[in-house]
Amino acid sequence: MKKIAVYPGSFDPVTNGHIDIIKRSISLFEKLIIAVNANPNPAKPYLFSAEERVEMIREALPSSPKIEVESFKGLLVHYARKKGANFIIRGLRALSDFEYEFQMYLMNKKLNPDLEMIYFMTSQQYSHLSSSVIKEIAKLGGSTINFVPPVVEKKLLEKFGY
Ligand code: COA
Repeated sequence: MKKIAVYPGSFDPVTNGHIDIIKRSISLFEKLIIAVNANPNPAKPYLFSAEERVEMIREALPSSPKIEVESFKGLLVHYARKKGANFIIRGLRALSDFEYEFQMYLMNKKLNPDLEMIYFMTSQQYSHLSSSVIKEIAKLGGSTINFVPPVVEKKLLEKFGY
């Protein structure tokens, strides 16, 4: 069976922490699909459209026939099945991520027991990163150059008019 993994997330925007997870996981799979959540999230409205989020990830990554980037709507388990994926990848930054990830794991397993979820411990230098923090820094005029790919820094500057 072909090893196909989906790495889902909001990626609003993608950070160096996400890129690190992608680079470390790619060698383990024949195909890695980076799936940008396009479901509306009223609790955490997106700064970037799904198209913009997909485009930034594409530009940030070296082109590879093993990597696909696209947005998805609906349940993750349905999307994974449609793509023929047998693995879901997630990154774990700190203890605080665990409860949420564990709940999501249990629920996804109930919805599709054949789908395996694999967790990567975030590299230490990225453990403090989150998309919200990046957006706040950019909004208040701080530099995000050390935390996000250059294409994202440029888009943030455009968004906040600096
Ligand atoms: N480095 C840096 N930051 C990281 C990171 C890493 N390695 N891993 C996670 N993060 C941050 C993100 O930047 C984000 O920060 P923010 O909260 O400040 O925005 C936060 O962790 C979580 O974001 P993300 O990893 O993108 O996950 P999410 O919670 O936004 O998305 C989905 C989760 C998309 C996987 C989930 O909502 C989903 O599957 N949705 C589809 C519908 C569905 O199937 N629902 C049922 C699920 S059981």
